[in-house]
Amino acid sequence: MEFAIKTGNPENQRFGCVVVGVFEKRRLSLQAEQLDRAADGYLGDIVKQGDMDGRPGQQLMLLRVPGVNAARVLLIGLGKEREFDERGYRQAVQTMYGALAGSGARDAICYLPLLPVKGRDPAWCIRDAAQAVETLEYRFETCKSKKDPNRPALRKLVFGVTERGGIRQAEAAAAQGRAIGAGMNLARELGNLPGNICTPSYLAEQAHSLGERHSSISVEVLDEPAMEELGMGALLSVSRGSREPARLIVMQYRGAEPDERPYALVGKGITFDTGGISIKPGAAMDEMKFDMCGAASVFGTLQAVAELELPINVVGLVAAAENMPDGKATKPGDIVTSMSGQTIEILNTDAEGRLVLCDALTYAERFKPRSVVDIATLTGACIIALGHEMHGLMGNNGGLINELRNAGKATLDRAWELPLGPEYDELLKSNFADMANIGGRSAGTITAGCFLARFTRKQRWAHLDIAGTAWKSGGEKGATGRPVPLLTQYLLDRAGG
Ligand code: BES
Ligand code: MN
Ligand code: ZN
Repeated sequence: MEFAIKTGNPENQRFGCVVVGVFEKRRLSLQAEQLDRAADGYLGDIVKQGDMDGRPGQQLMLLRVPGVNAARVLLIGLGKEREFDERGYRQAVQTMYGALAGSGARDAICYLPLLPVKGRDPAWCIRDAAQAVETLEYRFETCKSKKDPNRPALRKLVFGVTERGGIRQAEAAAAQGRAIGAGMNLARELGNLPGNICTPSYLAEQAHSLGERHSSISVEVLDEPAMEELGMGALLSVSRGSREPARLIVMQYRGAEPDERPYALVGKGITFDTGGISIKPGAAMDEMKFDMCGAASVFGTLQAVAELELPINVVGLVAAAENMPDGKATKPGDIVTSMSGQTIEILNTDAEGRLVLCDALTYAERFKPRSVVDIATLTGACIIALGHEMHGLMGNNGGLINELRNAGKATLDRAWELPLGPEYDELLKSNFADMANIGGRSAGTITAGCFLARFTRKQRWAHLDIAGTAWKSGGEKGATGRPVPLLTQYLLDRAGG
């Protein structure tokens, strides 16, 4: 979608559609009132007749409204003005997109960002709308033999602002929203691709293609012999049972001086998780193709950062492997040595995410990052703890935790902190190695965090468990593109804007 910003009165805009809101009960918003005056009370009459009460989710498309230059006027119900918050706003934008996509309008001007949204300014609203519209346009058609013939006519969405002075900020907001939305769509596409297409080597190819699209991104891929050389026994133990060799993908974005320390993102990229010898039960096992969504969010965030040309350096690491049972596969009780030198007794081969991550986190040290954030669909326990709303957030630095939490709040891509500590860490004790790879039934998300903490003591580190948030099950099964908004916001904040 093309986005733009424009000042001027709603009635004068020559677009396929002009979009304004109506509050409950039958109360025109400021911009709707403005249109109504130009239309000599036409909108007020319609509202009085009971065709638009202003309930959330309501919409009314009017054609050729007298006194209005646009071909259509779209009224969007907003609910009660006193209760109108960011959730109501998002619903309004979604309703608008649905109505516009179903119409013949090729372009539209939207005044919803000027509405009074609790605690948010018009720039935030423009950004959120651009992000929403960009993601609403996405559909997964790569593996369908026929593409949807009913593509919306809408090509361009313009946001109305009140003052010329606000144009620049509004344009920046729209650009950010678009870049974040496109980054989410990239993450969703990689997540949605099946395990037989999206293999570790496929992810490596996608990294190369990202590097080709953006001259600011350089890519290096380590194969299994290279990882062997580095002593990555934990990572390599996961791919042992698979015909698909593991890859460690290194993507470096350079937006600042080469000697500026980067921010590191490390993604879990298990392209399919059968559980290995500790094999998973069959129900919904197909969803374990989404076990590389942490990696996908690293791709999406790097793309957004490159599009926005942020003046910082970022290194994205993706630990990609397939977890399969096989005659050569790692067995429960096997002991491996990680790149850090610490030994691990693998009591459960289904706790593989932490095994690929720990070596990638050790590898991250060589970049001397300002912070390192790993992103992983790590534990089913996180879904039990936090459901599908919030990411699990853990780490060893209060400042970093706060920065990530705030970035999540700013983008409605929220994370909730869980504790780490010696009481939990003890659960990883092994009689035969430095640690076990599981901590038992209780506090599964936290003991996974404790495991990673043992490999990040030298770094300013945080961990996002996105097991509940990275994809949706059921009728709307599909990757969500989260936490690309949180991560991009975190980096925008570091870049000072
Ligand atoms: N990828 C899974 C976690 C997962 C499961 C995410 C279901 C989303 C939905 C991970 O590799 C895994 O299998 N974790 C185990 C850990 C356990 C063996 C300690 C789990 O959560 O059951
Ligand atoms: Mn697993
Ligand atoms: Zn997994």
